[in-house]
Amino acid sequence: MISEKRKEVRKKLKKLEGLPTLPPIVQKLSHMIEDEKVSLNQIAEVIEKDQVITSKLLRIANSAFYGFPKRISTVQSAIFLLGINVIRILIMTSSIFEIIHREDVGLWEHSIGVAACSKILAERISLKEPQEIATAGLLHDLGRVIQKVSFKEEYEEIRNLVKRGVDPLKAEEEILGLNHSDLGAFLLRQWNLPERLIETVLAHHELEKAKEFKREATVVHLADVLIHARGYGETLYQKVPSLNSKSLSILKISPEEFKDIFLALEPKLYELKFFTQELQKEL
Ligand SMILES: [Fe+2]
Ligand SMILES: [Fe+2]
Repeated sequence: MISEKRKEVRKKLKKLEGLPTLPPIVQKLSHMIEDEKVSLNQIAEVIEKDQVITSKLLRIANSAFYGFPKRISTVQSAIFLLGINVIRILIMTSSIFEIIHREDVGLWEHSIGVAACSKILAERISLKEPQEIATAGLLHDLGRVIQKVSFKEEYEEIRNLVKRGVDPLKAEEEILGLNHSDLGAFLLRQWNLPERLIETVLAHHELEKAKEFKREATVVHLADVLIHARGYGETLYQKVPSLNSKSLSILKISPEEFKDIFLALEPKLYELKFFTQELQKEL
């Protein structure tokens, strides 16, 4: 029964039926970014011609979770400071931001909280490109949005099971044959995003699913648990997800350091609250 459901869901996913789609300009940009013959300036020019993308990109680049001390006012400097990899992710997901925001403000807040916390943790353990980990944090529950937008009936069934006390991941697997981590990773793969990001999203609840990027997945896992425990944002799942007991040892963080990180997080979340409120006014 479950495997049949899974097949059906996979078929729908393969055809990309009813899945959030990317605007044509975003697709064009993503091809340009992959093409080695295209220069960064050419990419910047195309972005600048599109006011919507430019304003989204600059707004995100200046947001509290990237936290650059100076204001980034041009596309060129955003590319220079964040790197083309992060820009690609931001452009591709900027349309998804809106969907998350529109569909579920609570989940959106939760996601930027996890992004901020992931960045703090990634910096603390000196992972390379902490911005990319922040982005993984931002997208970690993308699969939940897919459930809500593209599998409406099943989503209601999942909610009902969760209300009756069934573990959320088990409920998702029972109804859809796969959980939100699988769904999110699937869509990110369709969009040709980097493997580091895909694997981190895939394994954020089940660290054993990570092969090459276990530390990255552990960072987002821990951030997710922390943000739930702190009660920042809201998700359908009110319970704090279960913490993998190996998390701290995988990251080589002591319980004291962990406390420090929790304290460092607080002012950041406060800033983000303002960012969210500001954004809410604009959207
Ligand atoms: Fe999750
Ligand atoms: Fe989460």
